Amino acid sequence: MIKTIRSVVALRTFDWNSRRRRLARCGNIDDLRLLAKRQLPAGVFDYFDGAAETEWSLANNSAKFDQVHLQPRVLVDVSNVNAATTVMGQTLPNGFALSPTGFTRIAGSPGELAVAKVAAKHGVPYTLSTLGTRSIEEVAAVSDGPLWYQLYVWKDRGLSRELVQRAKAAGYKAIMVTVDTAVFGRRDRDVRRGFTLPPKIGLETFVDGIRHPRWTLDFVTHEPITFSAVAGRGDVDGSTAITLSDYVNSQFDASLSWRDLDWVRSESGLPIMLKGIQSVADATRARDEGVEAIALSNHGGRQFDGSPAPIELLPAVVDAVGDGIEVLVDGGVRRGSDVVKALALGARAVMFGRPYLYGMGAAGELGVEWVIDYFNAGIARTMALLGATDVASLREITCECEWTASARPS
Ligand code: LAC
Repeated sequence: MIKTIRSVVALRTFDWNSRRRRLARCGNIDDLRLLAKRQLPAGVFDYFDGAAETEWSLANNSAKFDQVHLQPRVLVDVSNVNAATTVMGQTLPNGFALSPTGFTRIAGSPGELAVAKVAAKHGVPYTLSTLGTRSIEEVAAVSDGPLWYQLYVWKDRGLSRELVQRAKAAGYKAIMVTVDTAVFGRRDRDVRRGFTLPPKIGLETFVDGIRHPRWTLDFVTHEPITFSAVAGRGDVDGSTAITLSDYVNSQFDASLSWRDLDWVRSESGLPIMLKGIQSVADATRARDEGVEAIALSNHGGRQFDGSPAPIELLPAVVDAVGDGIEVLVDGGVRRGSDVVKALALGARAVMFGRPYLYGMGAAGELGVEWVIDYFNAGIARTMALLGATDVASLREITCECEWTASARPS
């Protein structure tokens, strides 16, 4: 009988690392999200999981990927597939780069340094946010991979200039100007929770902290979270708790317009990407202004609730701008197949932010690593199943989008 049991039951070796054990049970980014939700205080989780107002755009960004259908080709040698592409002169080994995310350290103390390290290990460009919780130089010190710097333009132009120059001096390769944040979107979840940065300790936060001891211990045993880009500058460095909308609305320049782009370019001398383009008209304008790249993005649904999903906008934008500018897609990307769909529809590359924050919240650096591995495997698998060996052959695959009869001729 023992022999029979042994023939059907193989004992799994027990992994003493509880984080790895939990990650092994995640099948996809949704599972990782739930794992992060269990680990994090509600206010912290809601800050990056949430979006503006009804959160329609947040849901729609992902839902639109489900409305893209590709027709696999068979009997193609797919023993080697590769989604490599280039953006602003940098190689993206698998067609994607990491979007900037503010306050990454609230999801886990390894924060931006861990994300930058994992990205560099895989050769994936990582974008540090102006509202990062590690400085430009700290991130550069741990990364030998490609880095981009995301810029919010401050009312204090001297400060913006300094940030851009520091990024250049530290070896960042491009400036990504976020253009959808003239004012801060209303995130109802944050309003309800009274979310501030750094988090204020009220009774509710205290109880939440006790219920999430791992996060709380991590939080209280590491340096306080501030806006590292402007550390030591009193009222602008986030050392006193403030709601993000008050902060952004008081510090960032709502008058920023097309004519300021030359200023950013001349200060940095680096290629520029505009992140947050939400219409064909603005995509065309960006091309005409000579900007190197745009990211179609609605800030993960966190700014204007009701704007088109980036993937939905992509075919029309690619049609309109031709080869005149590099077009990226950011928003709703949760699977390798989403990356492949965007590349097939003509995106130069794809970016995502929330997935790696879920990874960080679920399991720190190991979780971020899990996310990159998950996307790499998903991209390779999807390409093999489609019979496409590279981005050029992906573009030959017949695509149908439910929202338009003729997204791309077959
Ligand atoms: C946000 C800012 C920081 O979306 O980009 O919260």
